[in-house]
Amino acid sequence: MPGLYIGLMSGTSLDGVDAVLADLSEPVPRLVAHAHHAFAPALHVEVASLNRQGNDELRRAALAANELSRVYAAAVGAILKIAAVPVNGVEAVGCHGQTVRHQPADGYSIQLINGALLAELTGITVVCDFRGRDIAAGGQGAPLVPAFHQAVFARNDEHRAIVNIGGISNVTNLPIAGVVTGFDCGPGNLLLDAWVQRHLNQPFDRDGHWAKSGRTIPDLLGRLKADEYFRRAPPKSAGRETFNLEWLEKYLAGSEAAVDVQATLLALTAHGIADAIKHFCAAATAVYGCGGGARNIELIKVLTVLLAPRRVRLTDELGIDAEQVEALAFAWLAQQTLTSKAGNLPAVTGARGPRILGAIYCA
Ligand SMILES: Nc1ncnc2c1ncn2[C@@H]1O[C@H](COP(=O)(O)OP(=O)(O)O)[C@@H](O)[C@H]1O
Ligand SMILES: [Mg+2]
Repeated sequence: MPGLYIGLMSGTSLDGVDAVLADLSEPVPRLVAHAHHAFAPALHVEVASLNRQGNDELRRAALAANELSRVYAAAVGAILKIAAVPVNGVEAVGCHGQTVRHQPADGYSIQLINGALLAELTGITVVCDFRGRDIAAGGQGAPLVPAFHQAVFARNDEHRAIVNIGGISNVTNLPIAGVVTGFDCGPGNLLLDAWVQRHLNQPFDRDGHWAKSGRTIPDLLGRLKADEYFRRAPPKSAGRETFNLEWLEKYLAGSEAAVDVQATLLALTAHGIADAIKHFCAAATAVYGCGGGARNIELIKVLTVLLAPRRVRLTDELGIDAEQVEALAFAWLAQQTLTSKAGNLPAVTGARGPRILGAIYCA
């Protein structure tokens, strides 16, 4: 069927890959099927370790890219099966790849993926390397989802802000009229995940339950919020090299109870988002959350209080499941590429102009 695209997103949370099959033949995307494939523990560990300097990185990165591409191909196979759609019924797969370095100031951002292998394994055209062209044009290469947010969520009767809470959080400002802006506003789940992994050996703090049982440490919250990243003006983007446990440890006295640190990290995540919206989307009357962090009930509760009187909801209310938004964005970005349309917003990334993004590996 013309207009069927697959989007694959594996973000900084390192939780696995989200895959969607979507019909993009109409202005309003229709989700046909979705699947989530978690990374095997060994792949998770290897990708996490490739986020920092180490031995034999080139060979290990190549092997990890191959392994990731096999997981991506399995996710593609799974959704095609669920939807009973043949391989030749899909126009393209848009695949983000797995970020292991994000250094736009030095002119690069590395997403591990073997596009050629993914095209071989699936028999479908693959579009990947979405960030490189924007960076080559002087941009941050991130965030890339705001153009999609504009295409599907902008309205002329409601000033909206969209907040995507992945490993990192990013906000998109969708005014009723005027320029759409957006940027990475700070940590999303990645500090919360890392801290609960270290102390409770769990991959994430379900519903913010553990954080809720602790008490925010005002001093620590103040020191974390004073970090240079939060004060820097957009355009800006962040990765695991910006926010990580070593970053957190710089600010810890060492005597804090682990549960109170978790509570403080949840507060930091919420404040980072709320402050960004208050400064840069001040007139927004409605805020819609998406990404896995939107399922963190406690985080959304705190955000709702901080952002009052604005309404805080999830994109589920706008017809798109919060956890599918980003994968859907990469299906949409692949369509933009194959139809020779720009995928970046220069006002967001700081690029010199709109650019057609991505590298294409034909079926
Ligand atoms: N019920 C939940 N409670 C708290 N956090 C959740 C819940 N569901 C998902 N998450 C968080 O969402 C993350 C995955 O979000 P995702 O949007 O996939 O991020 P990324 O794009 O960085 O991979 C998980 O690592 C976890 O921290
Ligand atoms: Mg994820």
